[in-house]
Amino acid sequence: MMIMKLFTALDLPAALIAAGTLASASNPPAPRNAPSAANNQHLPSTSHGPNYNSTPHFSFEELFQLQKKFLDNFVFPENQVQAKSVNSSLLAPNVQGRVDITRTFTGQELNTEYLFGLFANIATVPNEFTLLGIPLAYEITHFAASQNIASASTRFNFSFPILNNLIVPIEIETWNVFDSNYQISQQPQRPKT
Ligand SMILES: *[C@@H]1O[C@H](CO)[C@@H](O)[C@H](O)[C@H]1NC(C)=O
Ligand SMILES: *[C@@H]1O[C@H](CO)[C@@H](O)[C@H](O)[C@H]1NC(C)=O
Repeated sequence: MMIMKLFTALDLPAALIAAGTLASASNPPAPRNAPSAANNQHLPSTSHGPNYNSTPHFSFEELFQLQKKFLDNFVFPENQVQAKSVNSSLLAPNVQGRVDITRTFTGQELNTEYLFGLFANIATVPNEFTLLGIPLAYEITHFAASQNIASASTRFNFSFPILNNLIVPIEIETWNVFDSNYQISQQPQRPKT
């Protein structure tokens, strides 16, 4: 089975999550490279409107439902709705996404495109040459949650237009931090030292 890692709002080293540290930790492990103050410069003022700064404490069930809501919108055709919105309301305005250990991108627009647009566009332009598949259905196989972090392994059925719509199961690991507005955020996890 192919394994693809899809980390969103990732502050902790991927290796820690891959090793399953999150599942047993009551507090998230300390990030090796703690986010610098510069990362917080774009956080909006909290004098009015939604609160982006406090760390909420969700129940396990709440985090599972938030995770499911994300996954429901990741699969076709709901991902098209998110992609068309340009700035998905599932994501915080300053959401930080991560493609791999070194590359991050900030903001609803870029992250909406990456999370939802990437696969939604394939379905709308089926004849375009692409190696990517369309996520059709999913099943969560492992789930861990702590405070406002949800970590899930999910088995998706992807359809590959280039292979006559062959259905291929692909396991995707997601790691999401949620803010007090129930949006996926880049809210850094401050280690308690
Ligand atoms: C999406 O968000 C960006 C950045 O805030 C903004 O410039 C753009 O107009 C928004 N687009 C839509 C369609 O809401
Ligand atoms: C994925 O496809 C397989 C084979 O078609 C099917 O048995 C399975 O139930 C599907 N999984 C989901 C989550 O729909």
